[in-house]
Amino acid sequence: ARIAVLISGNGSNLQAILDACQEGEIQGDVVAVISNKAEVYGLTRASDAGVASAVVAAQPGEAREAYDQRLLAELQQHQVDLVVLAGFMRILSEPFVEAFEGRMFNIHPSLLPKYTGLHTHQRALDAGDSEHGCSVHFVTAELDGGPVVLQAKVPVFEEDSAEDLAERVHTQEHRIYPLVVKWFCEGRLAMQQGQAVMDGSVL
Ligand code: GRF
Repeated sequence: ARIAVLISGNGSNLQAILDACQEGEIQGDVVAVISNKAEVYGLTRASDAGVASAVVAAQPGEAREAYDQRLLAELQQHQVDLVVLAGFMRILSEPFVEAFEGRMFNIHPSLLPKYTGLHTHQRALDAGDSEHGCSVHFVTAELDGGPVVLQAKVPVFEEDSAEDLAERVHTQEHRIYPLVVKWFCEGRLAMQQGQAVMDGSVL
């Protein structure tokens, strides 16, 4: 499969996926890395891996649909089969989501459906949760609301700061995201009637 990874920052999940492709674990290639922010470290990771990258930055006052059109055009140029959102900090409009229905994943740092949106680690701490984690899900028009494919849990310790917790969760993100991409590339995953299906069974 031809994979595009969309980022806005550090790109540690991008790195995990690049490594898994390199090692032959994922039967696919990252053919494009697209960032909405210039000069982020994820772009360096792309060039170090010899992968084409582009910055698609929003123009002042640009409507969401207009931006998403430009993003779509960029992805179409690369004939992408799969879109992987890896810390891409923009909400995507419905036409864009529809263009990649069943072919786009996101990773979110919480045990969905808990804590959609931002500041998930602090929110888990504030709630006194004893466990926290991350989720990979198919992207639908609902923010962090698409069907979950895989989650990883981590314990929350009393002395944890949000940074401690984020680091523990990140380690798990780097395990589960490449695994889901691998399964997709093997043709084992699909979204049917709004549900995630693996090997023919609803997850
Ligand atoms: C991750 O915590 C991911 O769950 C969230 O954004 C962060 C991206 O980190 N959506 P990185 O850029 O992959 O290091």
